Amino acid sequence: MSTPGKIHVGGQDLELPVIEGTEGEKAVDISALRGTTKYITLDQGYGNTGSCTSKITFIDGEKGILHYRGYSIEELCEKATFVEVCYLLIHDKLPTQAELDEFNELLDKYSLVHEAMLHLINHFPYDAHPMNVMGCLVQALSSFYPGVDAKSKTEHINLTAARLIAKTRAFAALAYRKSKGFPLVYPNKGEDYGSNFLRMMFDTPVKHYEPDPDMVKAMNILLILHADHEQNCSTSTVRLVGSSHANLYASVASGIAALWGPLHGGANQSVMEMLQNIKDKGLGIEQVINKAKDKDDPFRLMGFGHRVYKNFDPRARIIKDLCRKILLKNANSDPLLDLAIELEDKVLADDYFIERKLYPNVDFYSGLLYRAMGFPVNMFTPIFTVGRMPGWIAHWKEMVSEPGGKIGRPRQIYTGYTNRSYPDISERK
Ligand code: SDX
Repeated sequence: MSTPGKIHVGGQDLELPVIEGTEGEKAVDISALRGTTKYITLDQGYGNTGSCTSKITFIDGEKGILHYRGYSIEELCEKATFVEVCYLLIHDKLPTQAELDEFNELLDKYSLVHEAMLHLINHFPYDAHPMNVMGCLVQALSSFYPGVDAKSKTEHINLTAARLIAKTRAFAALAYRKSKGFPLVYPNKGEDYGSNFLRMMFDTPVKHYEPDPDMVKAMNILLILHADHEQNCSTSTVRLVGSSHANLYASVASGIAALWGPLHGGANQSVMEMLQNIKDKGLGIEQVINKAKDKDDPFRLMGFGHRVYKNFDPRARIIKDLCRKILLKNANSDPLLDLAIELEDKVLADDYFIERKLYPNVDFYSGLLYRAMGFPVNMFTPIFTVGRMPGWIAHWKEMVSEPGGKIGRPRQIYTGYTNRSYPDISERK
Protein backbone atom coordinates (compact mmCIF):
# COMPACT_ATOMS: atom_id res chain seq x y z
CA MET A 1 0.00 0.00 0.00
CA SER A 2 1.44 3.43 -1.00
CA THR A 3 1.32 6.67 1.01
CA PRO A 4 -2.33 7.77 1.24
CA GLY A 5 -3.54 10.52 -1.04
CA LYS A 6 -4.48 13.74 0.74
CA ILE A 7 -7.29 15.96 -0.60
CA HIS A 8 -9.14 18.96 0.76
CA VAL A 9 -12.78 18.94 -0.33
CA GLY A 10 -16.03 20.24 1.15
CA GLY A 11 -14.07 22.01 3.90
CA GLN A 12 -12.53 18.71 4.96
CA ASP A 13 -8.99 17.33 4.77
CA LEU A 14 -9.23 13.74 3.64
CA GLU A 15 -6.75 10.91 3.46
CA LEU A 16 -7.67 8.40 0.79
CA PRO A 17 -5.90 5.07 0.37
CA VAL A 18 -3.63 4.71 -2.67
CA ILE A 19 -3.29 1.30 -4.32
CA GLU A 20 -0.38 0.33 -6.58
CA GLY A 21 -0.49 -2.29 -9.36
CA THR A 22 2.23 -4.82 -10.15
CA GLU A 23 3.49 -2.59 -12.99
CA GLY A 24 3.70 0.50 -10.76
CA GLU A 25 0.37 2.14 -11.74
CA LYS A 26 -1.18 4.04 -8.83
CA ALA A 27 -4.83 4.84 -8.02
CA VAL A 28 -6.53 6.86 -5.30
CA ASP A 29 -9.32 4.68 -3.91
CA ILE A 30 -12.29 7.08 -3.66
CA SER A 31 -14.88 4.52 -2.53
CA ALA A 32 -15.26 6.40 0.80
CA LEU A 33 -15.47 9.87 -0.81
CA ARG A 34 -19.27 10.36 -1.07
CA GLY A 35 -20.00 8.81 2.30
CA THR A 36 -17.51 11.18 3.96
CA THR A 37 -17.98 14.42 1.98
CA LYS A 38 -21.21 14.02 -0.07
CA TYR A 39 -18.98 14.84 -3.08
CA ILE A 40 -18.60 12.55 -6.11
CA THR A 41 -15.99 12.78 -8.87
CA LEU A 42 -16.91 13.56 -12.49
CA ASP A 43 -14.82 12.19 -15.38
CA GLN A 44 -16.45 12.36 -18.84
CA GLY A 45 -15.39 9.23 -20.78
CA TYR A 46 -13.63 7.81 -17.71
CA GLY A 47 -10.18 8.90 -18.96
CA ASN A 48 -8.93 9.21 -15.35
CA THR A 49 -11.14 6.62 -13.66
CA GLY A 50 -10.38 2.98 -13.02
CA SER A 51 -13.41 0.67 -12.90
CA CYS A 52 -11.63 -2.39 -11.46
CA THR A 53 -8.36 -4.13 -10.81
CA SER A 54 -7.48 -6.83 -13.34
CA LYS A 55 -4.81 -9.48 -13.90
CA ILE A 56 -5.52 -10.01 -17.60
CA THR A 57 -3.90 -7.31 -19.77
CA PHE A 58 -1.38 -4.57 -19.13
CA ILE A 59 -0.96 -1.54 -21.41
CA ASP A 60 1.65 1.19 -21.04
CA GLY A 61 0.30 3.86 -23.41
CA GLU A 62 3.36 6.10 -23.10
CA LYS A 63 5.82 3.31 -23.95
CA GLY A 64 3.60 1.43 -26.40
CA ILE A 65 3.62 -1.79 -24.34
CA LEU A 66 0.88 -4.48 -24.49
CA HIS A 67 1.06 -7.70 -22.41
CA TYR A 68 -1.49 -10.51 -22.06
CA ARG A 69 -1.09 -12.22 -18.66
CA GLY A 70 2.52 -10.94 -18.57
CA TYR A 71 3.54 -12.12 -22.06
CA SER A 72 4.46 -9.42 -24.61
CA ILE A 73 2.24 -9.13 -27.67
CA GLU A 74 5.37 -9.31 -29.86
CA GLU A 75 6.41 -12.70 -28.42
CA LEU A 76 2.89 -14.11 -28.54
CA CYS A 77 2.53 -13.09 -32.22
CA GLU A 78 5.87 -14.73 -33.02
CA LYS A 79 5.45 -17.98 -31.06
CA ALA A 80 1.80 -18.66 -30.12
CA THR A 81 -1.37 -19.59 -31.98
CA PHE A 82 -4.60 -17.68 -31.41
CA VAL A 83 -6.11 -20.72 -29.66
CA GLU A 84 -3.22 -20.79 -27.16
CA VAL A 85 -3.80 -17.06 -26.52
CA CYS A 86 -7.53 -17.71 -25.99
CA TYR A 87 -6.63 -20.36 -23.41
CA LEU A 88 -4.07 -18.03 -21.78
CA LEU A 89 -6.54 -15.15 -21.40
CA ILE A 90 -9.37 -17.33 -20.07
CA HIS A 91 -7.38 -19.74 -17.87
CA ASP A 92 -4.51 -17.43 -16.82
CA LYS A 93 -1.91 -19.90 -18.16
CA LEU A 94 -0.60 -21.20 -21.45
CA PRO A 95 -2.01 -24.71 -22.06
CA THR A 96 -0.04 -27.94 -21.85
CA GLN A 97 -0.25 -30.11 -24.97
CA ALA A 98 -3.00 -32.20 -23.34
CA GLU A 99 -4.98 -29.08 -22.36
CA LEU A 100 -4.54 -27.64 -25.86
CA ASP A 101 -5.70 -30.87 -27.50
CA GLU A 102 -8.80 -30.97 -25.26
CA PHE A 103 -9.55 -27.29 -25.99
CA ASN A 104 -9.20 -27.84 -29.73
CA GLU A 105 -11.50 -30.87 -29.49
CA LEU A 106 -14.16 -28.63 -27.91
CA LEU A 107 -13.68 -25.92 -30.55
CA ASP A 108 -14.21 -28.49 -33.31
CA LYS A 109 -17.26 -29.95 -31.56
CA TYR A 110 -18.85 -26.56 -30.88
CA SER A 111 -18.28 -25.25 -34.41
CA LEU A 112 -21.51 -26.95 -35.47
CA VAL A 113 -24.36 -24.45 -35.77
CA HIS A 114 -27.76 -25.58 -34.44
CA GLU A 115 -29.99 -26.14 -37.49
CA ALA A 116 -32.70 -23.91 -35.96
CA MET A 117 -30.13 -21.06 -35.85
CA LEU A 118 -29.48 -21.54 -39.55
CA HIS A 119 -33.20 -20.87 -40.11
CA LEU A 120 -32.88 -17.78 -37.90
CA ILE A 121 -30.18 -16.32 -40.14
CA ASN A 122 -32.28 -16.93 -43.26
CA HIS A 123 -34.70 -14.22 -42.13
CA PHE A 124 -32.12 -11.43 -42.26
CA PRO A 125 -32.04 -9.21 -45.37
CA TYR A 126 -29.15 -10.38 -47.62
CA ASP A 127 -27.39 -7.02 -47.08
CA ALA A 128 -27.74 -7.00 -43.28
CA HIS A 129 -24.45 -5.86 -41.71
CA PRO A 130 -22.64 -8.98 -40.40
CA MET A 131 -22.12 -7.27 -37.01
CA ASN A 132 -25.91 -7.16 -36.67
CA VAL A 133 -26.20 -10.83 -37.63
CA MET A 134 -23.42 -11.87 -35.23
CA GLY A 135 -24.84 -9.86 -32.34
CA CYS A 136 -28.29 -11.42 -32.79
CA LEU A 137 -26.96 -14.97 -33.12
CA VAL A 138 -24.69 -14.65 -30.05
CA GLN A 139 -27.60 -13.22 -28.04
CA ALA A 140 -29.77 -16.13 -29.26
CA LEU A 141 -27.27 -18.67 -27.90
CA SER A 142 -28.72 -18.13 -24.42
CA SER A 143 -31.99 -19.63 -25.73
CA PHE A 144 -30.24 -22.64 -27.28
CA TYR A 145 -27.72 -23.23 -24.45
CA PRO A 146 -29.28 -21.71 -21.31
CA GLY A 147 -27.93 -21.35 -17.84
CA VAL A 148 -24.46 -19.77 -17.78
CA ASP A 149 -24.45 -16.91 -15.32
CA ALA A 150 -22.45 -15.47 -12.45
CA LYS A 151 -23.36 -18.41 -10.19
CA SER A 152 -22.34 -21.08 -12.74
CA LYS A 153 -19.55 -23.45 -11.85
CA THR A 154 -16.15 -22.70 -13.42
CA GLU A 155 -16.33 -25.86 -15.51
CA HIS A 156 -19.65 -24.75 -17.06
CA ILE A 157 -18.21 -21.27 -17.74
CA ASN A 158 -15.11 -22.82 -19.37
CA LEU A 159 -17.22 -25.03 -21.65
CA THR A 160 -19.32 -22.01 -22.60
CA ALA A 161 -16.12 -20.07 -23.33
CA ALA A 162 -15.08 -22.76 -25.83
CA ARG A 163 -18.58 -22.76 -27.32
CA LEU A 164 -18.51 -18.97 -27.80
CA ILE A 165 -15.03 -18.96 -29.40
CA ALA A 166 -16.10 -21.71 -31.79
CA LYS A 167 -19.52 -20.26 -32.60
CA THR A 168 -18.29 -16.67 -33.09
CA ARG A 169 -16.00 -17.84 -35.89
CA ALA A 170 -18.83 -19.85 -37.43
CA PHE A 171 -21.29 -16.93 -37.18
CA ALA A 172 -18.83 -14.50 -38.80
CA ALA A 173 -18.23 -16.82 -41.75
CA LEU A 174 -21.92 -17.70 -41.95
CA ALA A 175 -23.00 -14.02 -42.06
CA TYR A 176 -20.70 -13.50 -45.06
CA ARG A 177 -21.73 -16.73 -46.82
CA LYS A 178 -25.44 -16.02 -46.40
CA SER A 179 -24.99 -12.50 -47.82
CA LYS A 180 -23.57 -14.16 -50.97
CA GLY A 181 -26.09 -16.98 -51.08
CA PHE A 182 -23.28 -19.51 -50.47
CA PRO A 183 -23.74 -22.66 -48.35
CA LEU A 184 -22.22 -22.91 -44.87
CA VAL A 185 -18.73 -24.48 -44.76
CA TYR A 186 -17.81 -26.45 -41.66
CA PRO A 187 -14.23 -26.46 -40.32
CA ASN A 188 -11.85 -29.37 -40.92
CA LYS A 189 -11.35 -31.34 -37.69
CA GLY A 190 -7.96 -30.72 -36.16
CA GLU A 191 -7.04 -27.84 -38.53
CA ASP A 192 -5.70 -24.53 -37.20
CA TYR A 193 -8.44 -22.10 -36.04
CA GLY A 194 -7.33 -19.29 -38.38
CA SER A 195 -6.87 -21.61 -41.34
CA ASN A 196 -10.35 -23.03 -40.80
CA PHE A 197 -11.76 -19.49 -40.64
CA LEU A 198 -10.26 -18.70 -44.04
CA ARG A 199 -11.66 -21.98 -45.38
CA MET A 200 -15.12 -21.31 -43.87
CA MET A 201 -15.07 -17.92 -45.59
CA PHE A 202 -13.70 -18.73 -49.04
CA ASP A 203 -14.10 -22.44 -49.85
CA THR A 204 -16.80 -23.34 -52.37
CA PRO A 205 -18.12 -26.75 -53.49
CA VAL A 206 -16.96 -26.09 -57.04
CA LYS A 207 -13.60 -24.40 -56.40
CA HIS A 208 -11.41 -25.87 -53.66
CA TYR A 209 -9.77 -23.21 -51.49
CA GLU A 210 -6.44 -24.11 -49.83
CA PRO A 211 -5.39 -21.44 -47.32
CA ASP A 212 -1.94 -20.00 -48.07
CA PRO A 213 0.41 -20.65 -45.07
CA ASP A 214 1.40 -16.95 -44.94
CA MET A 215 -2.29 -15.99 -44.86
CA VAL A 216 -2.84 -18.49 -42.03
CA LYS A 217 0.07 -16.98 -40.05
CA ALA A 218 -1.31 -13.48 -40.74
CA MET A 219 -4.80 -14.58 -39.62
CA ASN A 220 -3.42 -15.93 -36.33
CA ILE A 221 -1.46 -12.74 -35.70
CA LEU A 222 -4.46 -10.51 -36.47
CA LEU A 223 -6.68 -12.48 -34.09
CA ILE A 224 -3.99 -12.44 -31.36
CA LEU A 225 -3.54 -8.66 -31.73
CA HIS A 226 -7.28 -8.12 -31.23
CA ALA A 227 -7.76 -10.65 -28.41
CA ASP A 228 -7.86 -8.20 -25.51
CA HIS A 229 -7.15 -4.59 -24.61
CA GLU A 230 -8.07 -4.13 -20.91
CA GLN A 231 -10.99 -1.77 -20.17
CA ASN A 232 -11.82 -0.53 -23.70
CA CYS A 233 -15.37 0.54 -24.52
CA SER A 234 -16.70 -2.91 -25.47
CA THR A 235 -14.96 -4.80 -22.65
CA SER A 236 -16.21 -2.26 -20.10
CA THR A 237 -19.69 -2.79 -21.59
CA VAL A 238 -19.37 -6.57 -21.11
CA ARG A 239 -18.31 -6.03 -17.49
CA LEU A 240 -21.13 -3.56 -16.78
CA VAL A 241 -23.82 -5.80 -18.31
CA GLY A 242 -22.31 -8.86 -16.58
CA SER A 243 -22.28 -7.03 -13.23
CA SER A 244 -26.10 -7.26 -13.21
CA HIS A 245 -25.62 -11.07 -13.34
CA ALA A 246 -26.86 -11.18 -16.93
CA ASN A 247 -25.70 -14.43 -18.54
CA LEU A 248 -22.40 -14.68 -20.43
CA TYR A 249 -24.01 -14.77 -23.90
CA ALA A 250 -26.05 -11.60 -23.25
CA SER A 251 -22.96 -9.87 -21.81
CA VAL A 252 -20.70 -10.55 -24.79
CA ALA A 253 -23.55 -9.74 -27.20
CA SER A 254 -23.56 -6.25 -25.63
CA GLY A 255 -19.82 -6.11 -26.32
CA ILE A 256 -20.52 -6.77 -30.01
CA ALA A 257 -22.96 -3.86 -30.06
CA ALA A 258 -20.36 -1.52 -28.51
CA LEU A 259 -17.53 -2.72 -30.79
CA TRP A 260 -19.62 -1.93 -33.89
CA GLY A 261 -19.28 1.82 -33.28
CA PRO A 262 -16.97 3.64 -35.76
CA LEU A 263 -15.03 5.26 -32.90
CA HIS A 264 -14.19 1.77 -31.61
CA GLY A 265 -14.02 -1.50 -33.53
CA GLY A 266 -15.93 -0.10 -36.50
CA ALA A 267 -12.93 2.16 -37.20
CA ASN A 268 -11.20 -0.45 -39.39
CA GLN A 269 -14.13 -0.32 -41.82
CA SER A 270 -14.22 3.51 -41.58
CA VAL A 271 -10.47 3.73 -42.33
CA MET A 272 -10.92 1.87 -45.61
CA GLU A 273 -13.96 3.94 -46.54
CA MET A 274 -11.96 7.09 -45.75
CA LEU A 275 -8.96 5.99 -47.87
CA GLN A 276 -11.22 4.88 -50.74
CA ASN A 277 -13.05 8.23 -50.61
CA ILE A 278 -9.75 10.16 -50.72
CA LYS A 279 -8.69 8.12 -53.75
CA ASP A 280 -12.06 8.19 -55.60
CA LYS A 281 -12.49 11.95 -55.14
CA GLY A 282 -8.82 12.70 -55.78
CA LEU A 283 -8.63 14.57 -52.47
CA GLY A 284 -5.25 16.00 -51.49
CA ILE A 285 -3.63 14.61 -48.31
CA GLU A 286 -3.14 18.17 -46.98
CA GLN A 287 -6.84 18.90 -47.66
CA VAL A 288 -7.89 15.82 -45.67
CA ILE A 289 -5.52 16.62 -42.79
CA ASN A 290 -6.80 20.20 -42.60
CA LYS A 291 -10.38 18.90 -42.58
CA ALA A 292 -9.51 16.61 -39.64
CA LYS A 293 -7.97 19.60 -37.78
CA ASP A 294 -10.95 21.89 -38.43
CA LYS A 295 -12.91 22.17 -35.17
CA ASP A 296 -16.04 23.16 -37.11
CA ASP A 297 -15.84 19.94 -39.11
CA PRO A 298 -16.92 16.69 -37.38
CA PHE A 299 -14.56 14.71 -39.68
CA ARG A 300 -11.82 12.81 -37.87
CA LEU A 301 -8.91 10.87 -39.36
CA MET A 302 -10.11 7.33 -38.78
CA GLY A 303 -7.38 5.00 -37.53
CA PHE A 304 -5.55 7.76 -35.67
CA GLY A 305 -5.57 8.56 -31.98
CA HIS A 306 -6.20 6.43 -28.94
CA ARG A 307 -7.45 7.02 -25.42
CA VAL A 308 -4.51 5.12 -23.92
CA TYR A 309 -1.68 4.99 -26.50
CA LYS A 310 0.10 8.35 -26.57
CA ASN A 311 2.83 6.65 -28.53
CA PHE A 312 2.71 4.10 -31.35
CA ASP A 313 0.07 1.39 -30.87
CA PRO A 314 2.37 -1.68 -30.83
CA ARG A 315 -0.31 -3.58 -32.75
CA ALA A 316 -0.20 -1.03 -35.59
CA ARG A 317 3.54 -1.59 -36.00
CA ILE A 318 3.12 -5.36 -36.27
CA ILE A 319 0.20 -5.10 -38.71
CA LYS A 320 2.00 -2.54 -40.90
CA ASP A 321 4.98 -4.91 -41.35
CA LEU A 322 2.64 -7.85 -41.98
CA CYS A 323 0.71 -5.82 -44.54
CA ARG A 324 3.82 -5.06 -46.54
CA LYS A 325 4.94 -8.72 -46.41
CA ILE A 326 1.58 -10.09 -47.60
CA LEU A 327 1.25 -7.52 -50.38
CA LEU A 328 4.84 -8.06 -51.53
CA LYS A 329 4.33 -11.84 -51.52
CA ASN A 330 1.29 -11.53 -53.72
CA ALA A 331 3.23 -9.09 -55.92
CA ASN A 332 0.20 -6.85 -55.85
CA SER A 333 0.59 -3.38 -54.51
CA ASP A 334 -2.50 -1.74 -53.14
CA PRO A 335 -2.86 1.93 -54.05
CA LEU A 336 -4.64 2.41 -50.74
CA LEU A 337 -1.55 1.10 -48.90
CA ASP A 338 0.63 3.65 -50.69
CA LEU A 339 -1.96 6.32 -49.80
CA ALA A 340 -2.04 5.14 -46.15
CA ILE A 341 1.77 5.31 -45.85
CA GLU A 342 1.80 8.81 -47.39
CA LEU A 343 -1.01 9.92 -45.05
CA GLU A 344 0.78 8.46 -42.00
CA ASP A 345 4.06 10.22 -42.91
CA LYS A 346 2.31 13.60 -43.27
CA VAL A 347 0.23 13.21 -40.10
CA LEU A 348 3.24 12.19 -37.98
CA ALA A 349 5.02 15.38 -39.13
CA ASP A 350 2.05 17.67 -38.40
CA ASP A 351 2.13 19.75 -35.19
CA TYR A 352 -1.61 19.32 -34.51
CA PHE A 353 -1.20 15.54 -34.29
CA ILE A 354 2.20 15.69 -32.59
CA GLU A 355 0.89 18.00 -29.83
CA ARG A 356 -2.11 15.73 -29.24
CA LYS A 357 0.03 12.56 -29.45
CA LEU A 358 -2.19 11.11 -32.16
CA TYR A 359 -0.56 8.04 -33.74
CA PRO A 360 -1.90 5.30 -36.02
CA ASN A 361 -3.87 2.76 -33.99
CA VAL A 362 -4.62 -0.91 -34.58
CA ASP A 363 -7.36 -0.06 -37.06
CA PHE A 364 -5.25 2.05 -39.39
CA TYR A 365 -3.51 -0.82 -41.16
CA SER A 366 -5.69 -3.81 -40.27
CA GLY A 367 -8.23 -3.02 -42.98
CA LEU A 368 -5.53 -2.97 -45.67
CA LEU A 369 -4.35 -6.39 -44.55
CA TYR A 370 -7.87 -7.82 -44.41
CA ARG A 371 -8.43 -6.49 -47.94
CA ALA A 372 -5.20 -8.09 -49.15
CA MET A 373 -6.46 -11.37 -47.67
CA GLY A 374 -9.68 -11.11 -49.65
CA PHE A 375 -12.15 -10.01 -46.95
CA PRO A 376 -14.88 -7.52 -47.91
CA VAL A 377 -14.89 -4.26 -45.90
CA ASN A 378 -18.01 -5.11 -43.92
CA MET A 379 -16.26 -8.20 -42.54
CA PHE A 380 -13.44 -6.23 -40.89
CA THR A 381 -15.26 -5.52 -37.60
CA PRO A 382 -16.70 -9.07 -37.45
CA ILE A 383 -13.08 -10.33 -37.57
CA PHE A 384 -12.25 -7.93 -34.72
CA THR A 385 -15.20 -9.56 -32.86
CA VAL A 386 -13.80 -13.07 -33.43
CA GLY A 387 -10.45 -11.87 -32.06
CA ARG A 388 -11.87 -10.00 -29.05
CA MET A 389 -14.24 -12.75 -27.88
CA PRO A 390 -11.66 -14.46 -25.56
CA GLY A 391 -10.84 -11.10 -23.97
CA TRP A 392 -14.49 -10.33 -23.26
CA ILE A 393 -14.98 -13.82 -21.77
CA ALA A 394 -11.84 -13.52 -19.61
CA HIS A 395 -12.99 -10.18 -18.18
CA TRP A 396 -16.54 -11.46 -17.54
CA LYS A 397 -15.10 -14.54 -15.80
CA GLU A 398 -12.68 -12.41 -13.72
CA MET A 399 -15.49 -10.04 -12.73
CA VAL A 400 -17.99 -12.74 -11.68
CA SER A 401 -15.23 -14.47 -9.69
CA GLU A 402 -14.52 -11.26 -7.69
CA PRO A 403 -15.52 -11.84 -4.05
CA GLY A 404 -18.15 -9.24 -3.08
CA GLY A 405 -18.61 -8.11 -6.68
CA LYS A 406 -21.10 -5.23 -7.02
CA ILE A 407 -23.45 -4.14 -9.79
CA GLY A 408 -21.97 -1.25 -11.78
CA ARG A 409 -23.97 1.91 -11.16
CA PRO A 410 -22.16 5.25 -11.82
CA ARG A 411 -23.44 8.52 -10.27
CA GLN A 412 -24.19 11.81 -12.09
CA ILE A 413 -24.47 15.53 -11.46
CA TYR A 414 -28.02 16.66 -12.29
CA THR A 415 -28.22 19.90 -14.32
CA GLY A 416 -31.89 19.89 -15.31
CA TYR A 417 -34.94 21.86 -14.04
CA THR A 418 -35.34 22.23 -10.30
CA ASN A 419 -38.69 21.26 -8.81
CA ARG A 420 -41.71 22.76 -10.67
CA SER A 421 -45.51 22.19 -10.50
CA TYR A 422 -47.54 20.38 -13.16
CA PRO A 423 -49.34 22.86 -15.51
CA ASP A 424 -52.82 22.19 -16.80
CA ILE A 425 -52.77 21.56 -20.57
CA SER A 426 -54.65 24.86 -21.11
CA GLU A 427 -51.75 26.71 -19.52
CA ARG A 428 -48.98 25.11 -21.63
CA LYS A 429 -47.19 27.02 -24.44
C1 SDX B 1 -10.06 1.06 -30.88
O1 SDX B 1 -9.83 1.72 -26.01
C2 SDX B 1 -9.27 0.80 -26.71
O2 SDX B 1 -8.41 0.12 -26.26
C3 SDX B 1 -9.83 0.64 -28.10
C4 SDX B 1 -9.11 -0.33 -29.03
C5 SDX B 1 -9.23 -1.76 -28.55
O3 SDX B 1 -8.36 -2.58 -28.91
O4 SDX B 1 -10.27 -2.09 -27.90
O5 SDX B 1 -7.73 0.01 -29.11
C6 SDX B 1 -9.70 -0.32 -30.44
O6 SDX B 1 -11.17 1.46 -30.68
C7 SDX B 1 -8.99 1.96 -31.51
C8 SDX B 1 -9.54 3.38 -31.84
C9 SDX B 1 -10.29 3.32 -33.19
N1 SDX B 1 -10.99 4.58 -33.42
C10 SDX B 1 -10.60 5.46 -34.39
O7 SDX B 1 -9.58 5.32 -35.08
C11 SDX B 1 -11.53 6.66 -34.57
C12 SDX B 1 -10.70 7.94 -34.72
N2 SDX B 1 -10.06 8.24 -33.41
C13 SDX B 1 -10.74 9.20 -32.57
O8 SDX B 1 -12.12 9.28 -32.69
C14 SDX B 1 -10.17 9.24 -31.15
O9 SDX B 1 -8.81 9.35 -31.25
C15 SDX B 1 -10.51 8.12 -30.17
C16 SDX B 1 -11.97 7.92 -30.06
C17 SDX B 1 -9.84 6.85 -30.56
C18 SDX B 1 -9.96 8.54 -28.80
O10 SDX B 1 -10.63 9.67 -28.43
P1 SDX B 1 -10.32 10.42 -27.03
O11 SDX B 1 -9.29 9.70 -26.24
O12 SDX B 1 -11.62 10.71 -26.39
O13 SDX B 1 -9.59 11.71 -27.51
P2 SDX B 1 -10.30 13.09 -27.64
O14 SDX B 1 -11.56 12.94 -28.42
O15 SDX B 1 -10.36 13.71 -26.27
O16 SDX B 1 -9.25 13.88 -28.56
C19 SDX B 1 -8.21 14.65 -27.99
C20 SDX B 1 -7.88 15.70 -29.05
C21 SDX B 1 -9.13 16.48 -29.50
O17 SDX B 1 -8.68 17.73 -29.98
P3 SDX B 1 -8.76 19.02 -28.95
O18 SDX B 1 -10.20 19.10 -28.47
O19 SDX B 1 -7.77 18.70 -27.83
O20 SDX B 1 -8.33 20.19 -29.80
O21 SDX B 1 -7.40 15.03 -30.23
C22 SDX B 1 -8.30 15.27 -31.30
C23 SDX B 1 -9.61 15.70 -30.69
O22 SDX B 1 -10.35 16.51 -31.60
N3 SDX B 1 -8.42 13.99 -32.02
C24 SDX B 1 -8.46 13.86 -33.35
C25 SDX B 1 -8.53 12.49 -33.60
N4 SDX B 1 -8.54 11.83 -32.44
C26 SDX B 1 -8.48 12.76 -31.46
N5 SDX B 1 -8.43 14.79 -34.33
C27 SDX B 1 -8.49 14.30 -35.60
N6 SDX B 1 -8.55 13.00 -35.94
C28 SDX B 1 -8.57 12.06 -34.95
N7 SDX B 1 -8.64 10.78 -35.25
